[in-house]
Amino acid sequence: MKYAHIVGWGSYLPEKILTNNDLARMVETSDEWIYTRTGIKERHIAGERETTATLAFEAAARALAVADLHPSQVELIIVATSTPEYIFPSTACRVQDYLGAARAGAFDLSAACSGFVYGLSMAANAIATGSVRNALVVGAETLSRVIDWQDRGTCILFGDGAGAVVLKGMSVPGGVLASTLRSDGSGGELLTLPAVYHNPVPMLGPEYLLQNGHKKNTIHMNGRQVFRFATKVVADAIEEVVHKAGLTLNDIDLIVPHQANVRIIESASKRLKIPMEKFFLNVDRAGNTSAASIPVALCDAVAANRLKPNDNVVFVGFGGGLTWGAAVVKWAVTPPEVSLLDREWKRARYIAARTRSRMRKWGRRVGAWLGGSPTPEARLKDANRPRRRKRRQ
Ligand code: UT7
Repeated sequence: MKYAHIVGWGSYLPEKILTNNDLARMVETSDEWIYTRTGIKERHIAGERETTATLAFEAAARALAVADLHPSQVELIIVATSTPEYIFPSTACRVQDYLGAARAGAFDLSAACSGFVYGLSMAANAIATGSVRNALVVGAETLSRVIDWQDRGTCILFGDGAGAVVLKGMSVPGGVLASTLRSDGSGGELLTLPAVYHNPVPMLGPEYLLQNGHKKNTIHMNGRQVFRFATKVVADAIEEVVHKAGLTLNDIDLIVPHQANVRIIESASKRLKIPMEKFFLNVDRAGNTSAASIPVALCDAVAANRLKPNDNVVFVGFGGGLTWGAAVVKWAVTPPEVSLLDREWKRARYIAARTRSRMRKWGRRVGAWLGGSPTPEARLKDANRPRRRKRRQ
């Protein structure tokens, strides 16, 4: 039995910032309303050339640098996201390719804002059972691409970003001590992001959504009901997971919650009688980045020296599905010093990985051409060519 320790962490927020005042010029809202109701001041928005996979790659590369793990040693990559570029190939496979992680299995995980906790739990179990020795767990989103920018009830909340951790199996007790994962599909309609618009499921299908004033392929939320759900499950999940780990609330040094709304955290703090200082918050600067919010906040907590070896930290997530979950981690590492030279050297690996990936793509094309199969372009041209009808004999 191995203990799954967090040995690396990294985050990436796009350069472009959208402030509350910027939003007040787009919809009927104000900085004061947004800040007092949510605690958010600004959020980051992905640039034109950025995608969920590129954000995830940046966070993953940083996490691997901290863990001092070569990409070729990574055995499992889980990307929790609600905004993949494709249903397939998965964003995780693109990250695997960008990293040059040639020996890793990779898949996306869909559990909305709880995705990172779900991924952490899956990866820790895979390590504990000996199925893999290490894993990269990433939460990454480009929510700005699926927001209805005219809906002031949602567009003020969300932002883009990515966060990642490296888990490694060690014989030293600690790491992920316990996790709890929950869902309640009966509340699915409270928070939706339709993927395929000819979905025949009556409850969440296009007719239902469009009749209720929804737009295609954007996030729709019943804010008040999600808020009510969140205030209950955050407190319950923390209590449950702490108990499962054989600890008490007094043993917890830091709680890194999903960064959705300060008022949700304040409510959990009151219910559990845990002071707000024990909750780490960065929602003011990043907004709600869904699956990315917990690992991004974790990185900020480490940077702010809020974690030291042997601290017990709780991660708690909640969101669409409905889903929720929590994990307790015994923190074991102090951040290593990574020199600039070392960082640049490590980045050079990824340029080499992309070159290798391109060469493999070209190799496939040449192989197909030599074998007589048409290139994808020729196949497309052929498919679009008007065909003559065969004469009936
Ligand atoms: O990560 C996934 C999980 N998601 C969440 O956790 C989100 C949970 N929900 C929330 O955080 C809150 O429900 C919101 C921040 C979305 C909304 O806050 P609220 O205090 O629940 O506001 P409300 O929806 O009850 O609306 C109160 C009023 C309404 O006006 P009336 O009907 O009282 O006249 C809204 O139309 O505020 C109005 N309103 C706004 N006003 C200015 C709603 N959005 C805005 C806005 N600016 N952006």
